[in-house]
Amino acid sequence: MKTYRIAVIPGDGIGPEVIAEGIKVLNRAAELDASFRFEFVTFPWGCEYYAKHGKMMDDDGMEKLRSFDAIYLGAVGYPGVPDHISLWGLLLRIRKEFDQYVNIRPIQLLDGAPCPLKDASKADIDMLVIRENSEGEYAGAGDWLFKGKPEEVVLQTGVFSRKGTERIIRYAYETARRLNKSLTSISKGNALNYSMVFWDQVFEEVGRDYPDVQTYSYLVDAAAMFMIKQPQRFEVVVTSNLFGDILTDLGAAIAGGLGLAAGANVNPDRTYPSMFEPIHGSAPDIAGRGIANPLAAVWSASQLLDFLGQERWGKAVLQAVEQVMVERVALTPDMGGTASTSEVGDRVVTALAASSVAAK
Ligand code: NAD
Ligand code: IPM
Ligand code: MN
Repeated sequence: MKTYRIAVIPGDGIGPEVIAEGIKVLNRAAELDASFRFEFVTFPWGCEYYAKHGKMMDDDGMEKLRSFDAIYLGAVGYPGVPDHISLWGLLLRIRKEFDQYVNIRPIQLLDGAPCPLKDASKADIDMLVIRENSEGEYAGAGDWLFKGKPEEVVLQTGVFSRKGTERIIRYAYETARRLNKSLTSISKGNALNYSMVFWDQVFEEVGRDYPDVQTYSYLVDAAAMFMIKQPQRFEVVVTSNLFGDILTDLGAAIAGGLGLAAGANVNPDRTYPSMFEPIHGSAPDIAGRGIANPLAAVWSASQLLDFLGQERWGKAVLQAVEQVMVERVALTPDMGGTASTSEVGDRVVTALAASSVAAK
């Protein structure tokens, strides 16, 4: 029997609450299949760990993670530890050091998901956002000069390397070709007269190798507007790190809410493990009450199954999520229900047996 070794970092706030449900679902998939199993190893890293040890992870933390088939993460960041310390000490560090340069975020309206847009149908909201995940505005480069003085100047440098820009854009073209979908680049060349002019140029250059892929290019401000007004314009989308961050919270909102939106941080050449996590954060406003929606974490688990080559189970888990939303027996308050986090997880587990037959 095949064993997949998964490093689990539940993290902060609602992270541990939702990850527990994802693990339930993964274990159930393995049980139903019977040809593979999971070995989960949990790492207690996060803001509480920081309070005790003065660091976000063990000194040899990256080494510890390296041998796993994948990482499953809840959320990082909690009041008490400055966000830039906690995030750069754990989440962003892993993305960067494991060269997880592709962030795949499906913005897809499932049946039963609450959509705030009037008249939008399932066919209208079905996009795959491919966010650059290793550099750009998140390069961590900058300077803070003349601190506290009247001439104080702060620089935050966006870094767009030839290698980094080409590889994400090529990945997006390949994805669009494989799915037979259009590809939209979202940038801002009118104002960002170095980085985004370069981005647009690379988008065009790489596109010459993909004459079969229909392309569009939007400025990010207009793209934000079109995501609300005409989301059907977008199929596969490629964009920079910061724009992708913002647009996928917007995307989450139109596709049912942050409690439902999933993401995969992928190192495509598989030199390092990839990491699966909901788009949302630690939600301190609802943490500890057992009411967080676990469906985003469960959808991330579905992405994890796809990544491991268990696509049938990836599909079955997503269908189970959809069924749970359609039947409306157990949903958390953000979706208008009264169920607890674990009741929703249990419901997905129940739905999975039926959906796995359908997904066969
Ligand atoms: P957030 O995503 O945690 O919460 C935003 C809002 O959405 C809150 O009202 C919250 O209750 C709600 N929400 C989020 N997830 C939900 C769920 N599963 N079910 C129901 N409601 C949900 O964003 P924030 O409040 O801006 O950030 C809180 C902390 O999380 C910060 O420290 C931030 O840096 C961090 N953060 C971490 C990640 C990550 O680890 N990937 C992502 C985003 C934010
Ligand atoms: C996300 C988060 C992170 C990001 C933060 C917590 C650093 O918002 O995964 O979307 O900006 O990438
Ligand atoms: Mn974000």
